[in-house]
Amino acid sequence: MRWLLIVTTLIVAFLLKYLFRRQHNNVCKTFEDYYTNRDTNPNCYNNPDVDLTIPEIVINRGYPLETHRVTTDDNYILTIFRINHGKENITGAKKTVLIVHGFGLNCGCFVTIGNKSLAFVLADNGYDVWLGNYRATIFSSHKYLNKADDLFWSFTLNEYVDYDMKNMINFVYNATNRKIVFIGYSLSTAMFFTYSSKHVQHSLEKINVNVALAPVFNIREWKSVFSYIPWNTLTKYIGTAVADYKVMNSYPLIQKYLCLPYPFQLKTCMLFYNLLEGWSNKQLDPETLPVSVIHNVDATSFKVVHHLMQLFRGNDGQWYDYGTKQNLEIYGTRKPIKTNLSNMKIPTYLLSANNDAISTPLNVELLYKNLTNAVKYKHVVEDDDFSHADFFRGKDVFLLVYQHIIKFLEDFK
Ligand SMILES: *[C@@H]1O[C@H](CO)[C@@H](O)[C@H](O)[C@H]1NC(C)=O
Ligand SMILES: *[C@@H]1O[C@H](CO)[C@@H](O)[C@H](O)[C@H]1NC(C)=O
Ligand SMILES: *[C@@H]1O[C@H](CO)[C@@H](O)[C@H](O)[C@H]1NC(C)=O
Ligand SMILES: *[C@@H]1O[C@H](CO)[C@@H](O)[C@H](O)[C@H]1NC(C)=O
Ligand SMILES: *[C@@H]1O[C@H](CO)[C@@H](O)[C@H](O)[C@H]1NC(C)=O
Repeated sequence: MRWLLIVTTLIVAFLLKYLFRRQHNNVCKTFEDYYTNRDTNPNCYNNPDVDLTIPEIVINRGYPLETHRVTTDDNYILTIFRINHGKENITGAKKTVLIVHGFGLNCGCFVTIGNKSLAFVLADNGYDVWLGNYRATIFSSHKYLNKADDLFWSFTLNEYVDYDMKNMINFVYNATNRKIVFIGYSLSTAMFFTYSSKHVQHSLEKINVNVALAPVFNIREWKSVFSYIPWNTLTKYIGTAVADYKVMNSYPLIQKYLCLPYPFQLKTCMLFYNLLEGWSNKQLDPETLPVSVIHNVDATSFKVVHHLMQLFRGNDGQWYDYGTKQNLEIYGTRKPIKTNLSNMKIPTYLLSANNDAISTPLNVELLYKNLTNAVKYKHVVEDDDFSHADFFRGKDVFLLVYQHIIKFLEDFK
């Protein structure tokens, strides 16, 4: 018995040491290089961002970082980071930009691909950059509750819109006294469209222009394999079991050990993203993917996921369906209210990609058409392999997307 224990322990220890052996070099020029002995491969080097936190990444790259706390009207405390000028260019920023992340992410997605990262590109081009974070990300807390309380996790997309979005915009506007350039990615584009359709006056006072990366609003035409799931049935079924659970609360480490150590793991891991977001790995960047895999995943609530499921089957712009009884109390109608995009009046620039299985060309077309009262512009990425996640981690995202944003903002008056 004792021998068995000792032998097992030795085997486990050996496996752990072998599986998770630590090499000094953690990124390479190609994925082939990545799976060699990186410490002796001249194409590999140490990317310090792998081991740093998000604020450390910003500071380590030589940017000024301010940390602000915003208390929402329903008592969540959100962190907004500010990079108020570039590394060299400290001559008074020209415009305030607020960038907000997508589903299951945090603001890390805008600083984790080195000097190509959106936040750094904007700061270096003279913008005062603010990075928002929704409730329940690692950068958030609550005035009275803590993350172990079920109630902390009791929120839907309604709260992202009415509190997080509105309160963050309020805060940044108040702090800089300048109209904001809003840049949203994926889910945040929908949150912004919803916010500016409902809080019309508020948005007109505080927002200069809206830049939507991989815009989603009409998701009925998505092409992802996941679109074949019978969401209506599933949602009804789940409806009876909805509770205040947390989702993806400790995924970063899981992703690290699940996706990185071996080539087959990276492939299977990316297979998941391919199925969900679009079929291509051409834009995966071996020099930064280890950083994105570790940093670009964060928590949300089960009710947010449930809300998304309600939207997946064509209920575009619908607020959370609480069930007839609660809907009557909250909305005054048996069915949840729907966002009317015609109310939205903020000038909008849509940037989308043809290989994006979520923000598909057809979905973007519907959205564009429905923005009947806003001045609108659009750009389709000139690379037919470009997909959903490439908007924050694509190898060529600077050339294909961010450059166009800079140009657009220079021309936009
Ligand atoms: C990032 O740095 C590399 C190497 O110094 C340089 O070639 C490249 O142009 C830079 N990219 C951006 C977007 O600044
Ligand atoms: C520095 O900022 C100013 C104004 O904010 C801008 O006009 C200029 O182009 C910027 N320079 C560089 C090198 O980015
Ligand atoms: C607006 O900013 C001022 C200081 O700049 C501060 O005193 C005030 O509390 C802020 N108001 C809000 C609503 O954040
Ligand atoms: C948006 O467009 C779709 C398809 O054309 C239409 O069914 C829907 O009612 C529109 N939504 C709004 C809010 O105008
Ligand atoms: C949306 O609002 C516009 C006016 O802003 C109105 O003409 C239109 O009928 C509304 N659409 C729906 C579906 O309620």
